Amino acid sequence: MIEISAPSNIAFIKYWGKHGRQFPMNESLSMTLKNCYTDMEVEYWLSDDIAGVQNFLFENKNQETFKAKINRYLQSIQDVYPLARRLCLNIKSKNTFPHSAGIASSASAMAALGKALGIIEAEITGKKLEITRVSELARLASGSASRSVIPYYASWGKSTSIDQSSQNYAIAFKDFHHNFSEVGDSILIISDAEKPVSSTAGHQLMESHPFREARIEQARKNFKSLIQAMKEGDWRSFGAVLENEALTLHGLMMNSSPSFILLEAKTLDAIRLIREEREVDKELSLYFTIDAGPNLHLIYPLAQEKRVKRLIETKLKSLYKSVIHDQILTE
Ligand code: DP6
Repeated sequence: MIEISAPSNIAFIKYWGKHGRQFPMNESLSMTLKNCYTDMEVEYWLSDDIAGVQNFLFENKNQETFKAKINRYLQSIQDVYPLARRLCLNIKSKNTFPHSAGIASSASAMAALGKALGIIEAEITGKKLEITRVSELARLASGSASRSVIPYYASWGKSTSIDQSSQNYAIAFKDFHHNFSEVGDSILIISDAEKPVSSTAGHQLMESHPFREARIEQARKNFKSLIQAMKEGDWRSFGAVLENEALTLHGLMMNSSPSFILLEAKTLDAIRLIREEREVDKELSLYFTIDAGPNLHLIYPLAQEKRVKRLIETKLKSLYKSVIHDQILTE
């Protein structure tokens, strides 16, 4: 029996589009979260007759869809993880954040699963447990999960802007200014309705997207500018790239075929208000990012936590249903 937990992450440079065996179309970079995570208990044994997940309890209830998803995954990795041919698992999983919050729960859940498989492999084969192996196993389950096994910041995908990069697993991005060592992420839940498009279907939209090549080039440039801003401790330049990435992701979805509009009117109202507020209060370092949904992640230096929370509780109050105050994971 093993017990593990793994956090969620929020992408600053978005992974959107993939090819081959879960390889990203472009490089991405994310911040790992402290309070939003998955706790998992995994019971395992080896059998010559059966393999795969026997029981999967999510928040104490049987979850057949998720069980089937993990079993498809375990079957698909048999060539790179031969133990999967004989491995039986009973899994109990729960999240510290509501499922309906629209926060990608796959990243934390699949990162937890990757950790469990890595630990099991190390226990059975006696091999040393490597973080790159865990990240790779997580990636094969869900791309963004590859980045969730690393604290602070993680990059994933081939990039010419950093010395070490890989499309197989995520790598820690450590070369940041101390202005980026304590960072808040307040998540405004604008709608908790089910997403009309899964991220897997979303990635497929990029395969024949008319702006595909332009997006690859833009992600390359944005990645470079973002890490430069983070190295220099320059929140203003960082924020410009951060918001450009979020709006690009949604722009690409809006002009895909089929087209998807995931932003709500209140998302746009909140964006306008945040931008106005920065005009009024020049000292305010508050920028937004958005994943494949309507909810806003407000990113800011924790030194400004008080004024950001005040803004959330006053001017932004009517625009969201609930708020989750999270921050960077540092260990
Ligand atoms: C918009 O990692 O959920 O959150 O690899 O198909 O499981 P799969 O997709 P997933 O995609 C995440 C997309 C994103 C941006 C990001 O996290 O980089």
